[in-house]
Amino acid sequence: MVSLAVEICGLKLRNPIMPAAGPTVRDGDALVAAAKGGAGALVAKTVSISPAEVPRPCMAKVKDSLLSAELWSDLPLERWLKSEYAKAKKTGLPLIASIGYKPEEIRELAPKVVKAGVDALELSIQYLGPDPTQMVEATKAAKETASVPVFVKLGPNVLNISDSAKAAEGAGADGIVAINALGACLSIDIENTLPMLGSASGYGWLSGPAIKPLALRCVADICRAVKIPVIGVGGITDGRDAIEFIMAGASAVQVCTAAITRGPKVYGLIADEMTRFMRVKNYNSIEDFRGVALRHLPEQPLRTRAKPPEVLISKCTGCGLCEKYCVYGAARMIAKKARIDPSKCYGCGLCVSVCPARALRF
Ligand SMILES: Cc1cc2nc3c(=O)[nH]c(=O)nc-3n(C[C@H](O)[C@H](O)[C@H](O)COP(=O)(O)O)c2cc1C
Repeated sequence: MVSLAVEICGLKLRNPIMPAAGPTVRDGDALVAAAKGGAGALVAKTVSISPAEVPRPCMAKVKDSLLSAELWSDLPLERWLKSEYAKAKKTGLPLIASIGYKPEEIRELAPKVVKAGVDALELSIQYLGPDPTQMVEATKAAKETASVPVFVKLGPNVLNISDSAKAAEGAGADGIVAINALGACLSIDIENTLPMLGSASGYGWLSGPAIKPLALRCVADICRAVKIPVIGVGGITDGRDAIEFIMAGASAVQVCTAAITRGPKVYGLIADEMTRFMRVKNYNSIEDFRGVALRHLPEQPLRTRAKPPEVLISKCTGCGLCEKYCVYGAARMIAKKARIDPSKCYGCGLCVSVCPARALRF
């Protein structure tokens, strides 16, 4: 019997998929929609002492990813404390409040938000700069004033993400969330020469599939550096992505951009895809495969000699993608089946990664 249920810092989740702070969790109604869409826990939009003055336009699609300049919640804190968290709590799911930014702001916000009934805090440190000193102070402030688990959300722009995670753990953090969006980035509308976003600089933060490999590397690094649970976020769009993060050591995942582009049903779809994968692989629980890929990372021997991939002929559908992608002219379709010429193969691995039928393997 496959179960997706996980327990993180005492929070019981029906599945390990939750929204990440962003526009899809901008108020209580949006959080209720995320719960109905199948999320295992809820994370609310970051709140700070004063509402944000969000520049417009604040979102632009860049290929299959997103550039944004949305900042934190533009709703007054009082409204969150009075009604929005309460609406989300009625779903019965664990509710994590995201709060930002400076240590003195966290000290003021944490007890108020906890009093409003949230089950855990997530600290956003996105605007504190690459040095971990302020993040450590913010974490201590939250731990001193709040009685619930405290997660620290790290961005990829810190000096060294493992060191930052260790510093957060040392300051008392109960878990790490990684990563926030990557920036600053720029996109230009070539029809009118203007930046796509209306922020003061025209710059924004990149999220979605483009940052997934970066997020996965950060999660793997953090999981090897700390003992506290890690929640992975960055470019997750389907069940296979979520499983990759769990295999890299994450205890759960968050989704923002895919929920913007596909709607709140995406959480349930990801959960269903994970269940199907787990059935095929005979995994009964998330713990059965959490972190299984980590052991290969430090031990992977460096290989500079080309080793051609093996073709599983019965699986090959003859689609020809391997031939199309092979820059070395080694992959060829013969009688509608892939063949690799070992004398030409560079062993680059691109064909293995593009084969939709998984008919190529090392
Ligand atoms: C429009 C938008 C608004 C966001 N707002 C917040 C926020 O308020 N607080 C925060 O910590 N992260 C915020 N993020 C970052 C996301 O929570 C997430 O860490 C990042 O987008 C990577 O995940 P994804 O690739 O699934 O989007 C925002 C991202 C986007 C795209």
